[in-house]
Amino acid sequence: MDTAGLGLDLAGKRALVCGSSQGIGLACAQRLARLGAGVTLLARDGDALARVCGGLAPASEAHDWLVADFAEPEAVQKVVADHVRKTSPYAIIVNNTGGPPPGPIVDAAPNDFMAALRMHLACNQLLLQTLLPGMKQLGYGRVINIISISVREPIPGLGVSNTTRWAVAAWAKTCAGELGKYGITVNNVLPGYTDTARLRSLITRRAQAHGISEAELTEQWLADIPAARLASPDEIASAVGFLASPSAGYVNGINLPVDGGRLSSM
Ligand SMILES: NC(=O)c1ccc[n+]([C@@H]2O[C@H](COP(=O)([O-])OP(=O)(O)OC[C@H]3O[C@@H](n4cnc5c(N)ncnc54)[C@H](OP(=O)(O)O)[C@@H]3O)[C@@H](O)[C@H]2O)c1
Repeated sequence: MDTAGLGLDLAGKRALVCGSSQGIGLACAQRLARLGAGVTLLARDGDALARVCGGLAPASEAHDWLVADFAEPEAVQKVVADHVRKTSPYAIIVNNTGGPPPGPIVDAAPNDFMAALRMHLACNQLLLQTLLPGMKQLGYGRVINIISISVREPIPGLGVSNTTRWAVAAWAKTCAGELGKYGITVNNVLPGYTDTARLRSLITRRAQAHGISEAELTEQWLADIPAARLASPDEIASAVGFLASPSAGYVNGINLPVDGGRLSSM
C-alpha cells in the first residue's frame, strides 16, 4: 500500500497479469498485489496459479486466476471475456507469455513467425479489445507489455523473437497514440537478462551449443552488463508497478529497458 503518498497505490484497481505462474509475470502479480491491486493470474498451469494466488498479498479486490493457452488467442479472449462479464472492469493488463523458441532467423519456417505473432500480438490485441470498454468506463487504463531489449538491439540467435518483439512494440506505440485521450497508457518494459526458468534453460542450451560450461557462458554474458549481474524478476516488476500506477499517468508509448545498463545504444 502507498502510505507515503507517492501515487503508487493501486487499491480498488483490478489487474490481469498474463504468464504469471512463474518468472517475470509472477513477480509482476506479486508486486501489483503488494501495491493494493486485485490480481487475476493467467497461464496454462492451473495448479501453479492456485498456489501463486494463495500467496498474494491481500487486497481490497479479490485475487483469482484463469487457465488459458496463448497459442490459441480466440480461446484466451473467450476465457477473459466470460470472466469480465461476471466481475468489475480491469484497470491494468500486463501482457506477458513464454518467449518464442530460439534459433537463427534463416532457419525459421513461416509458421514459426505466425505462431509467435499469434501468441504475442494477436493475444495482446484481443485482450485489449476485451478490456478496453472497462478501462474507458474507469477513465483509467494501463497496458504494459513485457517485451525484450531486442526491440532496441536484436539478439543473435533469437530470430523469430526479435521480429515478433518489434511487431509488438509498433502495435503498442500505435495503441498509445489512439488511447491516451481516455486516460489509458500503453508502455513496454524491456527486460535484460533476468534470472528465471526461461533464462536458465536458454543458458543450458547455449552452453551446450558452444561446448562451454553454463558458468563460463554466464560469465561472458555478465561481461556485457555494467551492473555485472542478472536482474531479479522483482526488479522488472518494480518498473511494471510504477507504469501501472497513477504516478505514471503522463508516461505513454515508451520502451523502458530494465537491463542493468546492457544496451549500448542511447
Ligand atoms: N528472462 C529473461 O532474461 C528475459 C529477458 C527478456 C525478455 N524476456 C521475455 O519475458 C517473457 C517472460 O519471461 P520469463 O523469463 O519470465 O519466462 P518463464 O519463466 O518461462 O515464464 C513464462 C510464463 O508464461 C507462461 N506461459 C508460457 N507459455 C504460455 C502460453 N502458451 N499460454 C499462457 N501462458 C504461457 C508460463 O506459465 P505456464 O507454463 O503455466 O503457461 C509462465 O508463467 C518472455 O516473453 C521472455 O521472452 C525474458
